[in-house]
Amino acid sequence: MTLSLNQQYLSKFISAEELKNIQPEITAADKLLTSKSGAGNDFLGWVDLPKNYDKEEFARIKTAAKKICDSCDVFIVIGIGGSYLGARAVIEFIKSPLYNNLAKKTPDIYYAGNSLSASSLAELISICEGKDVCINVISKSGTTTEPAVAFRVFRNILEKKYGKDGAKDRIFVTTDREKGTLKSFSDDEGYETFVVPDDVGGRFSVLTPVGLLPIAVAGIDIDKLMEGAAQAMDDYCDPDIEKNDCYKYAAIRNILLRKGINTEILVSYEPFAQMFSEWWKQLYGESEGKENKGIFPASVVFSTDLHSLGQYIQEGQRVLCETVLSIKDAGTVLEIPNDENNIDGLNFLSGRELDFVNKKAMQGTLFAHMDGDVPNTVIELDKRDEYSLGYMIYFFEKACAISGYTLGVNPFNQPGVEAYKKNMFALLGKPGYEEQKAALEARLK
Ligand code: PA5
Repeated sequence: MTLSLNQQYLSKFISAEELKNIQPEITAADKLLTSKSGAGNDFLGWVDLPKNYDKEEFARIKTAAKKICDSCDVFIVIGIGGSYLGARAVIEFIKSPLYNNLAKKTPDIYYAGNSLSASSLAELISICEGKDVCINVISKSGTTTEPAVAFRVFRNILEKKYGKDGAKDRIFVTTDREKGTLKSFSDDEGYETFVVPDDVGGRFSVLTPVGLLPIAVAGIDIDKLMEGAAQAMDDYCDPDIEKNDCYKYAAIRNILLRKGINTEILVSYEPFAQMFSEWWKQLYGESEGKENKGIFPASVVFSTDLHSLGQYIQEGQRVLCETVLSIKDAGTVLEIPNDENNIDGLNFLSGRELDFVNKKAMQGTLFAHMDGDVPNTVIELDKRDEYSLGYMIYFFEKACAISGYTLGVNPFNQPGVEAYKKNMFALLGKPGYEEQKAALEARLK
């Protein structure tokens, strides 16, 4: 099994009866998804994406990735939310959060356009000085302010450095097939473009060119990533939660929420999974947090955060649950050396692998938190590799859809994201927002 769900630390909080009782709701959610009759049914392209994707474009991604690797030292991924989190999550999970510091044949990768911070952008500009640079601007709508600003800045830099024609070969655009300013602009300028499928929303787009191009540039095997996702697609079809861990996870979340557990913490014991948690937080936060509903998704990396948030989790308000990501084979063997004098008293660990110690920390924490009344679900992933990660991505995507439908929301829209944008545009004086500008400025006085 590539991935399995361990309920051992949940038994005190959820009975077999409760799981049985929620089954009809899960079956109904599955029906909405499979019959494509639920809310947001025009955004279900991700469901069969691991098998049903554009093979010609997939090959073009590999060719572009090679071209990028051959022609730059620094590759900048410009995008925000679903247009960058998936790529970064996969790159850090498979390679390292310290990817840029590793000895490698692939370019350094930086991320821009995911904030409006002047210092972040200025730092990145100075990092690029004297280096050959390629960029991939990713925006489904093609109108999002943060990436649009960063794109304008880097386009300017590239055109000054390489001339308009030279820059053209270094700019790769991932956007809508037809719509949006970015698409028409790219066509006019002659940039190579990749498509965000119409029926795949940003947070479900990691296995489209949105994620795949940057992931391929990092030297990661995108075939294996898709293979893993395709296997998960086959494995998670039966609506019976006793035969489907993906659906069981969705059931568990909904049962816990109804018991007043309003915060779910995704726990990992590996810093390389930190960005995966950021991807997961967006997936669940944006899909479920609406109509005053939903579990607030949070994340920690242990044992690091056991020395900060660990206190709260153990003894703070009892509104938390944890979903623990346990990677059976994290891929690195590091032995703790013996010390003749044993001054630090650690010789009881001599010759032990550090991963063994990490796993014991996990087991100890699971018991401690369960005893502290925090329900824990453990997701056991076989390996740290592309196949397993692709499998887990699909697991969480499908569970999110089933969980959202069980909760009674449209898991595929994000109407709340517009509120800040409208205010920001009004305050910045964007044409068309004059009335809101006056109203907001009156509130500022
Ligand atoms: O999941 C989503 O839909 C969002 O997070 C978007 O990905 C994000 O807002 C960026 O949008 P766009 O790709 O249109 O620039």
